[in-house]
Amino acid sequence: EGLYAFIDGLPKAELHMHLEGSLEPEMVMELARRNSVDVPWASADELRSAYSYTDLDSFLAVFWGGCRVLRHEQDFYEMAMAYFKRARQQNVLHAEVFIGLQSFIPLGVEMASILDGITRARIDAEKEVGITSRLMVNIHRHRPESAAFDLLSQVAPWWDQIAAFGLAGPEMGNPPSRFARFFGACRESGFRVVAHAGEEGPSSYVRETVSLLNADRVDHGNACIDDMELVQEIALKQIPLTLCPFSNLKLNVVNSLRDHPLKRLMNHGVKVTINSDDPSLFGGYINENFKACCDELELSKDQVVEIARNSFTASFLSEAEKHRYL
Ligand code: HPA
Ligand code: ZN
Repeated sequence: EGLYAFIDGLPKAELHMHLEGSLEPEMVMELARRNSVDVPWASADELRSAYSYTDLDSFLAVFWGGCRVLRHEQDFYEMAMAYFKRARQQNVLHAEVFIGLQSFIPLGVEMASILDGITRARIDAEKEVGITSRLMVNIHRHRPESAAFDLLSQVAPWWDQIAAFGLAGPEMGNPPSRFARFFGACRESGFRVVAHAGEEGPSSYVRETVSLLNADRVDHGNACIDDMELVQEIALKQIPLTLCPFSNLKLNVVNSLRDHPLKRLMNHGVKVTINSDDPSLFGGYINENFKACCDELELSKDQVVEIARNSFTASFLSEAEKHRYL
């Protein structure tokens, strides 16, 4: 298949992936053994068969269950390195990756273990693997805004390692507007701002992300398709959407990728990107997502090229760095 080989070889950036969701079952079991963490799965295969969800909440239970095995700096280093290697094999040359610190700090994991481990992996991956990266810290949207502010000051010693703050976790009932002051503070401190919105939630959450948070990108953003005025605004302002087709399929946001709004959004001039979200937990890395979209949405080669170009223009690389890739 010519288009598949073309996708494999195409240089691309990945802008929406959670490092925790890249932990392959074998590594979860190995870390559980190494760190003496009791897990309810007898084998990697048994764990893999638990990777089945009805919605975002049932997914998050599995996602946070896996987080429990990560304890030490070396664990975070190995998780990040494994992802960077897998991504580079798919010709991802630049990756902007999420970590949700609030999934670990309450379990007694040291902030330094998480952030220094990931930063060491990012440095080694650039030297040894040939992939550049940025780190984005996700805020738990089901916790109060004061917890987000606490986190922002707690990570002050690592501010220079963090490019952006994002918003993730259970979406329904936790609108972006609850975090408008927090993201204003992030921006004042020089950070980029992103937020998950309109994955399970309504188009109004996407609108809040654009107009109240002034986000640099919307993570997912699918639901904007229900509000054509909003689609036009997002297209006009060229606010990128980081779409995650496998994620939407596995969480029943769409019944089939044939129903996915990616192509319709593109046709309305929206700058869309394709991403894996949680590649291990959703059963596909970035190229599998590209290929499934080509099959189900009948994307042309030109459209594939445009989406890959978007991934670099929508990235947080400097203009000079973008020129290296475009
Ligand atoms: N949505 C919200 N929170 C998440 C996701 C997601 O797709 N993946 C990991 N945490
Ligand atoms: Zn996500």
